Amino acid sequence: MLILGLETSCDETSAALLRSEKGRLKILSNVVSSQVKIHRRYKGIVPEVAARLHLEKILPVIKEAIVEIKNLQKIDLIAVTFGPGLITSLLVGVEAAKTLSYLFKKPLIPINHLEGHIYANFINEQSIRFPAVCLVVSGGHTELVLMKDLSQYQKLGSTRDDAAGECFDKVAKLLNLGYPGGPAIEKTAQAFQRDSPFSLNLPRPMIGTHDFDFSFSGLKTAVLYKIKGMKIDKNFKEALAYETQEAIIDVLATKTARASREFKAKSIILSGGVAANERLRVMMKEKAEKSGKKLFVPPKNLCTDNAAMIAAAGYFRYHLLNKKQRLDLLNNWRKIKVDPNLML
Ligand code: KG4
Ligand code: ZN
Repeated sequence: MLILGLETSCDETSAALLRSEKGRLKILSNVVSSQVKIHRRYKGIVPEVAARLHLEKILPVIKEAIVEIKNLQKIDLIAVTFGPGLITSLLVGVEAAKTLSYLFKKPLIPINHLEGHIYANFINEQSIRFPAVCLVVSGGHTELVLMKDLSQYQKLGSTRDDAAGECFDKVAKLLNLGYPGGPAIEKTAQAFQRDSPFSLNLPRPMIGTHDFDFSFSGLKTAVLYKIKGMKIDKNFKEALAYETQEAIIDVLATKTARASREFKAKSIILSGGVAANERLRVMMKEKAEKSGKKLFVPPKNLCTDNAAMIAAAGYFRYHLLNKKQRLDLLNNWRKIKVDPNLML
């Protein structure tokens, strides 16, 4: 089966082609056109600009993604992100997908972006056992989800204010490190030396609460107080980037590990842009090994937004449908309900 995935929820225009071979998903192409250079000027994403750039890029990106098969007629299924995300950006991908579905008479399946992030782990991977505790951690979301089976979710907790990625981005802005903030903070933190003149302590918000919620806006404020009246030189920046990263990762890894123990998870799944963070990957691996759980993390290029993960989620959703539901996909893609348990 050949699956075409489209993703335009934020600032990456992406199209991917996946092939399923005996249930194993393989990536044939995963084209990502990033707008990051343009939004960097504004230190954040400008929705109007993002939508216009998606419009420019969507067809060239699809063309590049299907170069190997040449003909869209060979595709069996189309999957597209329908939310959550920037509405004007989402519309570009959804309209493109609907048009292709109509023209080539291919079933079209709408995918929740967060579910897509989780399914990045299922590409080329068949050993994930359930129940699994999934941490979806990106620029817009921080969610702990219990995955009882394929497409069966229970939300355990989420952020009450800022997402973890947003905290990385905002602290990077305060320190003038550029956009996106996560990779910038990570790089600056790597330069931190143990014999640095600065040793800073930041709070670990909600690390000890008995729920599975998070809160990161206070951390950003704590950073703001630390820099008040200070000369922000290289050493200070490195110390603050290091401690910010430690604080965020510590909370994420501790609560994910606790959820995995409490819900007797067989697997722990990391996903979303922040899962590209090396420190999070290492700390989570240590915690998973200690409690005898298997950790799954996608390769870094599949953590940040991409269409391969959307195609993967589409493949699994399609196989969970009965014959009538599959036919409905051809007639009216809106008839397919997305699991309401997953946060939109
Ligand atoms: O999943 P994603 O590409 O887009 C959303 O769905 O939001 O995630 C983007 C977020 C940004 O906040 C970015 O700063 C963060 O992921 N991020 C990272 C790293 N790479 C991306 N955060 C920490 N460390 C990284 N290496
Ligand atoms: Zn995302």
